[in-house]
Amino acid sequence: MKGKKIIVGVTGSIAAYKAATLVRLLVKAGAEVRVLMTPAAQQFISPLTLATLSKHPVHSEISSESAWNNHVEMGLWADALVVAPLTASTLAKMAHGICDNILVAVYLSARCPVFFAPAMDVDMWAHRSTQDNVKRLLDCGNHLIPVGVGELASGLIGEGRMAEPEDIVATLAAHFQSADTLKGRKVMITAGPTYEPIDPVRFIGNRSSGKMGIALADEAAARGAEVTLILGPSFYGPQHPGVTTIAVQTADEMYEAALMHFPGSDVAILSAAVADYRPQDTANQKLKKIADTLPIQLVKNPDIAAELGRLKTTKQLIVGFALETNDEIPNAKAKMEKKNFDFIVLNSLNDPGAGFVHDTNKISILHRNNKILHFELKSKTAVAADIIDEVATLLSDF
Ligand code: CTP
Repeated sequence: MKGKKIIVGVTGSIAAYKAATLVRLLVKAGAEVRVLMTPAAQQFISPLTLATLSKHPVHSEISSESAWNNHVEMGLWADALVVAPLTASTLAKMAHGICDNILVAVYLSARCPVFFAPAMDVDMWAHRSTQDNVKRLLDCGNHLIPVGVGELASGLIGEGRMAEPEDIVATLAAHFQSADTLKGRKVMITAGPTYEPIDPVRFIGNRSSGKMGIALADEAAARGAEVTLILGPSFYGPQHPGVTTIAVQTADEMYEAALMHFPGSDVAILSAAVADYRPQDTANQKLKKIADTLPIQLVKNPDIAAELGRLKTTKQLIVGFALETNDEIPNAKAKMEKKNFDFIVLNSLNDPGAGFVHDTNKISILHRNNKILHFELKSKTAVAADIIDEVATLLSDF
């Protein structure tokens, strides 16, 4: 925690008094702390208390009569933003980008990991609106510090208590520890579909969005890796500044880029949905609608994974993907063996919410030693963290 720059956001909950302990513990652990408060928070704890404990002025307005507080600068300054306690109201504002105070402005400007520790009464917490908003924040890659169960300010007993400051500090410490697990490692990732041109206008493609591979790239970079993302045509892109993206269109271009970057990589994660075939000939001009049928001769594309599997040294790892509709486990195992993967990530199109297009995925990880890990349906960001955990564990044995 030493030297880490942490913004603590405090909102208007009775649990705001715990923010004083949180700030004190963070400062004691060596962190540099700045505090932001919503106007409502000031009714529960005085800015002077938090300014004294953090040793810095506390901000609660984007601008005052004499100054404009640069929320972009603050967002970029932080290594982590933790909102504790987080009320239902600010949770909703964060989930929907309603930027009417400095805390939400900094949240929207921040590129660092964001942690949130909700605090509210049992029925507010259980309400569908609240739970939908929590889900939205998680889908954006933010980290929930779970609520506790106990007696609440209303006198009711149930879920909704803010996590204890000690637990919040422990969560942040664990995060910073894992943030370095891939430091100095080079990770190459293929992602997205490929487009195989028929003529200057048409192509053969597939439904891959690239989101899973992009989430993997952001996660690996967040853990300190230098990431090269070889990305087929996608509407999305990585957010982490530690990711270098190489945009490609076709399987051939992806193959060339992968062959160039693989020798310098410690890990290759092959999440791209590479077209197995491409049209043998590409017309130079747009094809006209003349004949009743239009046969297109297809030829095989290079198998990037199989080629990298052949080139792999004992110091490199390859992670493959399998999207299957039937005989999932035997098919995935056969792919892992054939392409010399160290492990394979299986998703089944039979699982609702898994695979292409969705923001969620449900995976199993199959290892060479027959170990199989089954995971719940999660956001692709959370799935990426599970996959990168496995990569980091295998790499630590090298
Ligand atoms: N792969 C690749 N290059 C290809 C085809 C696949 O790198 N030309 C990679 C994918 O990125 C994935 C793995 O190989 O990690 C398995 O892809 P999949 O399409 O399921 O495998 P195929 O060998 O094409 O098998 P299938 O006959 O089921 O399409």
